[in-house]
Amino acid sequence: MASLAKAAKLVVFPLLLLHLLSLSAALSVGVNYGAFADNLPPPAQVAAFLKDRTFVDRVKLFDANPDIIRAFAGTGISLMITVPNGDIPSLASRRSSAPSPAASAWVAINVAPFYPATNISLIAVGNEVLATSDRNLIAHLVPAMRSLSAALAASGFPQIRVSTPHSLGILSASEPPSTGRFRPGYDRVIFAPMLDFHRRTRTPFVVNPYPYFGYTARTLDYALFRPNPGVFDPATGVNYTNMFVAQLDAVQAAMQRLGYGDVEIAVGETGWPSAGDPGQLGVSVEDAVSYNANLIRLVNSGKGTPMMPGRRFETYVFALFNENLKPGPTAERHFGLFNADLSPSYDVGLMRDSDNAPAPSGDSWRWCVATADASLAELQNNIDYACGSGGADCGAIQNGGACFDPNTLLAHASYAMNAYYQAAGRHDFNCYFGGSGVLTSTDPSYGNCRYQT
Ligand SMILES: *[C@@H]1O[C@H](CO)[C@@H](O)[C@H](O)[C@H]1NC(C)=O
Ligand SMILES: *[C@@H]1O[C@H](CO)[C@@H](O)[C@H](O)[C@H]1NC(C)=O
Repeated sequence: MASLAKAAKLVVFPLLLLHLLSLSAALSVGVNYGAFADNLPPPAQVAAFLKDRTFVDRVKLFDANPDIIRAFAGTGISLMITVPNGDIPSLASRRSSAPSPAASAWVAINVAPFYPATNISLIAVGNEVLATSDRNLIAHLVPAMRSLSAALAASGFPQIRVSTPHSLGILSASEPPSTGRFRPGYDRVIFAPMLDFHRRTRTPFVVNPYPYFGYTARTLDYALFRPNPGVFDPATGVNYTNMFVAQLDAVQAAMQRLGYGDVEIAVGETGWPSAGDPGQLGVSVEDAVSYNANLIRLVNSGKGTPMMPGRRFETYVFALFNENLKPGPTAERHFGLFNADLSPSYDVGLMRDSDNAPAPSGDSWRWCVATADASLAELQNNIDYACGSGGADCGAIQNGGACFDPNTLLAHASYAMNAYYQAAGRHDFNCYFGGSGVLTSTDPSYGNCRYQT
């Protein structure tokens, strides 16, 4: 970190220029790819969509699903994959510096076949293990992390990081932030050796802060990055005006208390739902936009927090998709940044070619057409969708219509896809069609067949 900062100073001018030229391209956003749903697109389509259409550059999986890992090959998107909690005891090794056979086998099965084509950048050993209160899992957690790390190094993947995400239940105190401390009993026995592992391996301590699960009617604005009276921390003299920032600093205070304030923090999960049960306070599209847009801005800003000035936080928003099979209150099924059809749930600036750019004026109309290599099945699907639930006016490609000839799927699909694109608001993603649509600035109209604008 220190040498990086020095290097940055020397090249401050070119960096600044680059920054100005490519402000949005510098955006880094991670998402949790949960798949508790029966309506999601296939992983390959999801991977292509994220790569081509969004700024999402990191994806976190709650397992090590080989189909999903393979789908991200060649995308440049980095992956965090997860060891199931139940595998933790077997991964642990008796000797702290040598991998267990199970850890070596885990790497051989879940990493070696995919890396480096898929950029697996972090392996989470279990998920919120401390919250399970399972003594056997908890006792084996740090040994399993060491063993897996040793197995990765021994298998030729020393650059793949090892960590484990924690709920904020690991803290026994967190308000105001300077009082942050780990739960007694776990602090010296679990967290000190774990943080020592993170320091030695230069890997992040991963936490899942959820202001959503901590707000009341009085603190809603504080949770949502809106103007509010703030929470004053008398020990530091800091007036906290956002709960997410306060939660990160509470974690930092707990780490400092054990002497590990230098270890990096990453955010494994955080998010806000865009819909909830009738009458539920603070659960709307506007609320989700306020939380997630401000969150993405903050973690990318390099501003850091009062206790961690200048830091950036590798962050994974929960979640990529609305998951229709999640049990529990309505809000649980509405944490997604995207709907199952890949349309954004709302605009938080994640789309490339900014979909909120001003509408094109006269000379810069754009049309959406089918790609030449789209399959016949894709073309038919696109017609069915655009002219069906998509609500586009497809009269011109009916028998007798001005665009009926040539009577080919390619021509009819292009007309329908464009009609849908124009009607849906001309967002770039409206022309995605699973990768079978492309935007053009050349008017595809011919003869009496006029493409809509
Ligand atoms: C893999 O991901 C890590 C973390 O995002 C990044 O630093 C690294 O450059 C990536 N490697 C490749 C080959 O893309
Ligand atoms: C904290 O900041 C808020 C917003 O700027 C302000 O309204 C409030 O008076 C401040 N409180 C304290 C104790 O400084």
